[in-house]
Amino acid sequence: MTSRETDELIRVAAAEVRDEEREFDAALRPRWLAEFVGQARIKEQFELLVEGTRARGEPLDHVLLSGPPGLGKTTLAGIVANELGVGFRPTSGPALERAGDLAAILTNLEEGDVLFVDEVHRMPRTVEEVLYPALEDFKLDVIIGKGPSARSIRLDLPRFTLVAATTRPGLITLPLRERFGFSPRLDYYSHEELAQVVNRSAGILGTPVETAGAEEIARRSRGTPRIANRLLRRVRDYAQVRGDGRVTHETAGLALSLFEVDERGLDKLDLSILSSLVTKFQGGPVGLSTLAASVGEETETIEDVYEPYLLQLGFIKRTPRGRVATEAAYGHLGLTPARSGELF
Ligand SMILES: Nc1ncnc2c1ncn2[C@@H]1O[C@H](COP(=O)(O)OP(=O)(O)OP(=O)(O)O)[C@@H](O)[C@H]1O
Ligand SMILES: [Mg+2]
Repeated sequence: MTSRETDELIRVAAAEVRDEEREFDAALRPRWLAEFVGQARIKEQFELLVEGTRARGEPLDHVLLSGPPGLGKTTLAGIVANELGVGFRPTSGPALERAGDLAAILTNLEEGDVLFVDEVHRMPRTVEEVLYPALEDFKLDVIIGKGPSARSIRLDLPRFTLVAATTRPGLITLPLRERFGFSPRLDYYSHEELAQVVNRSAGILGTPVETAGAEEIARRSRGTPRIANRLLRRVRDYAQVRGDGRVTHETAGLALSLFEVDERGLDKLDLSILSSLVTKFQGGPVGLSTLAASVGEETETIEDVYEPYLLQLGFIKRTPRGRVATEAAYGHLGLTPARSGELF
């Protein structure tokens, strides 16, 4: 097989996994606040906002949801539209290439609709500028004609709610950030909350799961409901093929070691980041892009997906000169820091 064919096979396999995941995601995605596990404070805040909005009969304030991937931003956006009984119009920053793309969506909204813009930090500036008056006054400025005869007219838009989501709140410009009335930041879930996610999903899938089995999956889910659901699916396969179909502590442990997810939820790439930091760079400090190159991954992926969890576990630290491995990271790898005095 040529390397091109191999690449193609890998691409197709990856797309199949993504499709499978999308279907699975849709089936397990909570539709109402009452089904949404964890994030107690944010849930309560949304409950209040939704009730107030309903009582006043006005559209909800614009909302900016931020936090690492898989914590429920898209889910919450859909829930808000459901709870308000309004339409849900999803799009994303990169899909809005030109000002006209956004204008077309805005003029097709209905009163009260939720416009969901995923990855809002990737929206081009020219599009962002069209959004400002739309958010503030529900107006859209359009230029008609070309050259000296061109003129600008202001159209009225239906009063809508923008719910924007981002994994990188730091990249949102100040003028945009200031136009949101509510900007909750989702945080990693506790093991107890993730065990609830696993139990809820297992119930929907009709998979019997023991308490200790759900807890084992929860512990290895990196604080992330999407991962909890993904691991549940792997364990379910394993339990069906090698066991009696029940998810127990033992099947969860065996299945997840088979799929190279360790006891703290770290996968091969996490471990390769840590061991690269420790062995190639003597524990750091090392710049993020150098570290990314050393493990063969995109800097952005490391920053969005891998680093936040390693920071959360206390395995790496950010310093002005770069990333450093902590003593806990050495411990996790079964090593002792050579120059621990200098490292911390
Ligand atoms: N609080 C929750 N309770 C139960 N299930 C949840 C919760 N949050 C997320 N999920 C599950 O995790 C999946 C992923 O969540 P979602 O797509 O909302 O994450 P996201 O924050 O939008 O991620 P990304 O940044 O990658 O877009 C959902 O399909 C849902 O099944
Ligand atoms: Mg999302």
